[in-house]
Amino acid sequence: MSSRTVIRGGLVITASDEIHADVLIEDGRIAALAAAGTPAAEAFTAGLSETGPPSPEGWGRVIDATGKYVIPGGVDGHTHMQMPFGGTTAADTFETGTRAAAWGGTTTIVDFAIQSVGGTLREGLDAWHAKAEGNCAIDYAFHMIVSDVNQETLKEMDLLVEEGVTSFKQFMAYPGVFYSDDGQILRAMQRAADNGGLIMMHAENGIAIDVLVEQALARGETDPRYHGEVRKALLEAEATHRAIRLAQVAGAPLYVVHVSAQEAVAELARARDAGLNVFGETCPQYLFLSTDNLAEPDFEGAKYVCSTPLRPREHQAALWQGLRTNDLQVVSTDHCPFCFSGQKELGRGDFSKIPNGLPGVENRMDLLHQAVVDGRISRRRWIEIACATPARMFGLYPKKGTITPGADADVVVYDPHAEQVMSAETHHMNVDYSAYEGRRTTGRVETVLSRGEIVIDQREYTGRAGHGAFTPRTTCQYLN
Ligand code: URP
Ligand code: ZN
Ligand code: ZN
Repeated sequence: MSSRTVIRGGLVITASDEIHADVLIEDGRIAALAAAGTPAAEAFTAGLSETGPPSPEGWGRVIDATGKYVIPGGVDGHTHMQMPFGGTTAADTFETGTRAAAWGGTTTIVDFAIQSVGGTLREGLDAWHAKAEGNCAIDYAFHMIVSDVNQETLKEMDLLVEEGVTSFKQFMAYPGVFYSDDGQILRAMQRAADNGGLIMMHAENGIAIDVLVEQALARGETDPRYHGEVRKALLEAEATHRAIRLAQVAGAPLYVVHVSAQEAVAELARARDAGLNVFGETCPQYLFLSTDNLAEPDFEGAKYVCSTPLRPREHQAALWQGLRTNDLQVVSTDHCPFCFSGQKELGRGDFSKIPNGLPGVENRMDLLHQAVVDGRISRRRWIEIACATPARMFGLYPKKGTITPGADADVVVYDPHAEQVMSAETHHMNVDYSAYEGRRTTGRVETVLSRGEIVIDQREYTGRAGHGAFTPRTTCQYLN
């Protein structure tokens, strides 16, 4: 027996269109859209009712979206659920983190599997599959962090691309942990140029930063704010420039993750003006928070320690501009939550021991909607940077990231007028603080469907661990 859901009366917003249309969902996919009030739309609801009794064709339900937006589920291309880091582990499991994502209107995450030093890509990927399988509320995919480029891992990259793990993160930071030198980076880029993979770069000059860390600590500068001071914008820009040039030499596309410095945006813009396949992601924390937060007293600044670091407020304008000019294409969260109590506290007296990362998987769609309300971006650009482009960038489109016949029915009914106050008291992430505590935003997720299953029903969680499935990806669909 087939299942059928109709979302009626809303404004359907995709990256390309805004139309008053009813949406017909059958067997987990978008079956059709029809302009509201037309006979085609009326036919969607024949035999169905608001409360969901059986129809002659099967079970069905009508969701009234009058006065609401009907948008594709968010695609968060950068998360770290239960990631080991700095002697501790990110506090959200795949279960709690994907549930929180659903609450925030995100229906797909792309998380980072990690190759341990001395281990293979296969071992790392298998370990991440084991953590995620059977636990996720929404669909998930993986990037692979390559910590050790050698002949074996280069060959493994080809196999992973075939399995739908088509992007590889490398680090120019964290010497002795994830760091790759320029030769290793070039080799991985050359391989990606051959196999269609996308290299994602953590672009900070980690060798130089470690010198500055040592010098700061020797001067007794141990507070969280020094994390921001030693990880200089110029060292992000320098690494971004170097990564671009290495990618150019290799003939490979490049995606720079968590861009925070205006000087790094300028490097990306220059490369794009030259026609290179170079892309940039920023994150809500860089758009909405600043070094003012890192400087909060009583070690509270530790809540905002992440890398690349938060920057002085002036950098925000360059990031917003980059999003408007498409020099930055994607906003992901880099969700990597550590509780203040017991985890961030590991770095009291030494900022370099504060685990790096912020919570945010639940907040991204709302914060970006606030940018729409504030007139910074249009509604369609909101959907483009949060849903459609990450789906294209990471080979998930049009299955994910849009509302079109044949796509997975990952759909959010969004109330653009509801008011909310972000708080650790009310959020669903497994972390004891909110980076946006007390922030008022307009707009809120009301109902969320993942492949046609209702996971949030008028602000009640109806999902389940294990509904979310691993989603293999094609290669990047965003190249020039
Ligand atoms: O501080 C951050 N960004 N933590 C997560 C790891 C990474 O570099 O993305
Ligand atoms: Zn990174
Ligand atoms: Zn990250």
